[in-house]
Amino acid sequence: MRHRLETSEERGKDLRIDDKVAVVTGAGSGIGEGIALRLAEAGGALVVADIDLDAARATAAKISDQGGEAMPVACNVASTEDARAMIDGALNRFGSVDVLVNNAGIARDAIVPKMTEEMWDAVLAVNLGGVFNCTKFAVTAMKRQCSGRIVNISSRAYLGNYGQANYSATKGAIVGFTRALALEVGPFGIRVNAIAPGYIDTPMTRATVGDSVEQYKLTSPLRTVGSPADIAEAVLFLAASPSDYITGETLSVGGGRSIGQQPF
Ligand SMILES: NC(=O)c1ccc[n+]([C@@H]2O[C@H](COP(=O)([O-])OP(=O)(O)OC[C@H]3O[C@@H](n4cnc5c(N)ncnc54)[C@H](O)[C@@H]3O)[C@@H](O)[C@H]2O)c1
Repeated sequence: MRHRLETSEERGKDLRIDDKVAVVTGAGSGIGEGIALRLAEAGGALVVADIDLDAARATAAKISDQGGEAMPVACNVASTEDARAMIDGALNRFGSVDVLVNNAGIARDAIVPKMTEEMWDAVLAVNLGGVFNCTKFAVTAMKRQCSGRIVNISSRAYLGNYGQANYSATKGAIVGFTRALALEVGPFGIRVNAIAPGYIDTPMTRATVGDSVEQYKLTSPLRTVGSPADIAEAVLFLAASPSDYITGETLSVGGGRSIGQQPF
């Protein structure tokens, strides 16, 4: 049973990013799709990037249907050339890159002795290399503009998750990357923050956790799991002006699971 304090219509309704151009990676599914839809609803023009172009097109079509503007782009964030082309495409179409949400991520779970080099390399290339690649080109444009907001999607797993040493390593590294980059680009009016989601119901978690979602609910202080909309609201806050004095931070959005274990 989900205990909601407010309906989704009531949350963050005053937060706007009108006339801002927002790039969201991994926006064809799950959390990325939720973020793209919410940023478009808040007035942003969206670059909907995903390695799966059909999925990106589907999200862009939903944005168009709700009256927003969106450009779907095929982009493998692990590729420097794809990242460069994505940011160039955004600049050519919309003239600026105001918000970058580094959301694309994958999991390849195994305990360390059983983790293959391929599993290790794939997760590092996408989850960490992808953040670096997209940020590198976006931040160059943002420095010219002397403004920008970057939101990196880390995970509660940065605290350590059993069987996810590769994934946890990347999500912890994102926290450090966020802090270091915030120091570099703050003088240019660019803010960099991260969000560490707890369990969010998406295709990724359905594939990795499956039926044990009920166990997650029992170990959550709020006795529930989150939805992409919960992360989208936090991203919108960090992309919008009410958070203008916040940079270098990692915000946990996980129903309290980052606090610690429940006593049972
Ligand atoms: N679902 C959760 O509980 C949870 C919790 C914490 C953090 N996260 C993080 O949130 C992000 C989104 O996760 P999700 O649950 O929505 O996953 P998802 O699998 O539902 O969606 C991920 C999307 O990223 C795309 N993608 C995968 N590899 C890509 C690449 N190389 N380049 C571009 N796009 C790529 C996929 O095609 C897909 O559309 C990830 O970074 C994940 O680590 C998720």
